Amino acid sequence: MIKFTIITLFQEAIEPYLKASMMWKAAEKGLAEFNFVNLRDFGLGPHKSVDDTPYGGGDGMLLRCEPVFNAIESIKAVNPEAKVILPTPVGEIWAQARAREFAADTDAHYIILCPHYEGYDERILSIVDYKVSLGKYVLTGGELPALTVIDSVVRLIPGVLGGEQSAEIESFSDGDNLEYPQYTKPADFRGMKVPDILLSGNHGEIAKWRAAHSGKVE
Ligand code: ADE
Repeated sequence: MIKFTIITLFQEAIEPYLKASMMWKAAEKGLAEFNFVNLRDFGLGPHKSVDDTPYGGGDGMLLRCEPVFNAIESIKAVNPEAKVILPTPVGEIWAQARAREFAADTDAHYIILCPHYEGYDERILSIVDYKVSLGKYVLTGGELPALTVIDSVVRLIPGVLGGEQSAEIESFSDGDNLEYPQYTKPADFRGMKVPDILLSGNHGEIAKWRAAHSGKVE
């Protein structure tokens, strides 16, 4: 079973998605487990502070080392093998190859640290295994990337999706092939017709058509 432990200040922003999707089915089937750690529990002083101003000046607040290290070390005390993922716009662009690699390790435990505020103390990188970016834009925190990583990994775990094969044959799964165009009823919608070949019943020709119309990642 693949475990995810999400360290966040905003559990309420993440949990509804996990509870309302295939992710929850995966958890119910015992194929994935989701845990939350509230970073505030590791905050400093009476205000349980988790951030502070940057040395050298500048706007905003940065995640401090102590709460983050203490939170991660408390998880690693139970599982020293757990891998730490940090969502950051300067990370490696998240891609299907990495999702497949994560899903293949069925005993893996991934700790996803969700930064907030203006950023994090650079020394936090010393305990991070994977820096992950969703793309070249800046989000307010790591919650959406955390969900993206979890969703894209969990759907690849055998047994999670209904049609056992669907994750495998679908977009991105085989090299960088994108899915071919698909249609359902009606065959003619407002003059937009389904290609004749798909109505032909000729499976050989249909397979050729699909191969010819599969997209490619740039
Ligand atoms: N945190 C802020 N922006 C991000 C992005 N684009 N990807 C991952 N984490 C982020």
